[in-house]
Amino acid sequence: MNNRENFGSKIGAILAAAGSAVGLGNIWRFPIITGQNGGAAFILIYLCCIVLLGLPIMISEFLIGRYTHANTAGAYRIVSNGSPWKWVGRLGVFTGWFILCYYSVVGAWTLHYTYLSAANAFQDVPAQEYGSIFSSFTSNPWIPTIWLFLFIGVVHYVITRGVQSGIEKFSKIMMPTLFIIVVLLVICSVLLPGASEGIKFLLVVDFSKVDSSVILQAMGQAFFSMSLAMGCLCTYASYFAKNTKLATTAINVSVIDTIVAIMAGFIIFPSIFNIGMDPNEIQAGASLTFISLPNVFQKAFGNGTFFACVFSMMFYFLLFVAALTSAISLHEVATAYVSEEFEVTRKKAATLVTVVITIFGTLCSLSFGPLSSIQFKGLNIFDMFDSFSGMVLLPLGGLLTSIFAGWVLDQKLYKDELSNHGELKAPYFKLLIFTLRFISPIAIGMVFLDQLGVFNTIRELLG
Ligand code: PFF
Repeated sequence: MNNRENFGSKIGAILAAAGSAVGLGNIWRFPIITGQNGGAAFILIYLCCIVLLGLPIMISEFLIGRYTHANTAGAYRIVSNGSPWKWVGRLGVFTGWFILCYYSVVGAWTLHYTYLSAANAFQDVPAQEYGSIFSSFTSNPWIPTIWLFLFIGVVHYVITRGVQSGIEKFSKIMMPTLFIIVVLLVICSVLLPGASEGIKFLLVVDFSKVDSSVILQAMGQAFFSMSLAMGCLCTYASYFAKNTKLATTAINVSVIDTIVAIMAGFIIFPSIFNIGMDPNEIQAGASLTFISLPNVFQKAFGNGTFFACVFSMMFYFLLFVAALTSAISLHEVATAYVSEEFEVTRKKAATLVTVVITIFGTLCSLSFGPLSSIQFKGLNIFDMFDSFSGMVLLPLGGLLTSIFAGWVLDQKLYKDELSNHGELKAPYFKLLIFTLRFISPIAIGMVFLDQLGVFNTIRELLG
């Protein structure tokens, strides 16, 4: 590809990749599973997963993208020399597209809740009503769909502006904004009476809660949070300049991702403890975000007060920004793929992707309302997209990526790219390859089996 754009600066590249990593997973999942699974003990295990599994795979994806300067499918085709391993790239593109379909739906919900918070619509709402507010919103055939169009419209706008004036420029504005909002929300939260109990819940070291399923959860979370195996990092890295330090960039992105995830805990738990709610009864995900938290914020900051209104609005706007930057990275995977593989302009490719995502996203969105009767094994369309990507596509992609990078990819190529052709020292090269060959495939293979319920079945069989 001759006329490909690159990111214009190192910080732009880091912020774009961090924008992909920091998403809903950091805010609506990480804090709750940390608090419920041993606090700091869980964080420690999570950090090990990042270092042992996440970083090697992230570096490999960066390397393949930057070496080939091609979209993910093209990149794997080049480095696999036409062998069947090229399918790993195609799988990544498919996974990215698949996730974007349901991820955008949640992005749209965050917009609606930002609006509801700004309109002070949660004033005087009794605690037990929040569930029905959420379900009557999601089952409405129009409102979530309109927000969805708006959300995808913003993503489309950024993508069509290109790599430098779209993705990079936008990341340089949105990521600092996100960080400022996180800091402001943390400050407001930790000043609440009883906040220390919440922080203790998050940070207490309790290894008694750690069992094999907790470790597997930590691995799965690290994987999703770092945006691995979906083509995003490979695609973004294809816009990295030749002198970008891949390992340093990967470390920076992981650090930003983890800091935001931990700070999200400092936002959420102080208010939960302030109102005396039992954090063990809260379910991570949509239920936490759209049912428990609007109630918690009203109670903690004063029903209907200006402060509650602003805090709640900033929180949902934060979720929106986090979801948006991740959605942009997912859209870019598909856009780069269509544009380069089918040789059409970026604008045409982006439009095609947007149309397809809007159709499938709408189906996911309507699966809480008019299409709720379409079910498979008790799952509606949205849940099917969510489960299939989380349980099958992601672990499979991760497994294949690590095997490919460790066993198949030319090691000289790996070392050359990692060291920027000898400019940088890469003393960890052998360790990296060892991890990719043995540790990651075994660990991810176990997550995969766990997601498929194999371990549960064995546990049940053993009584
Ligand atoms: N990492 C994002 C999160 O934590 O929410 C989600 C995500 C974005 C996953 C982009 C995958 C991806 F390619």
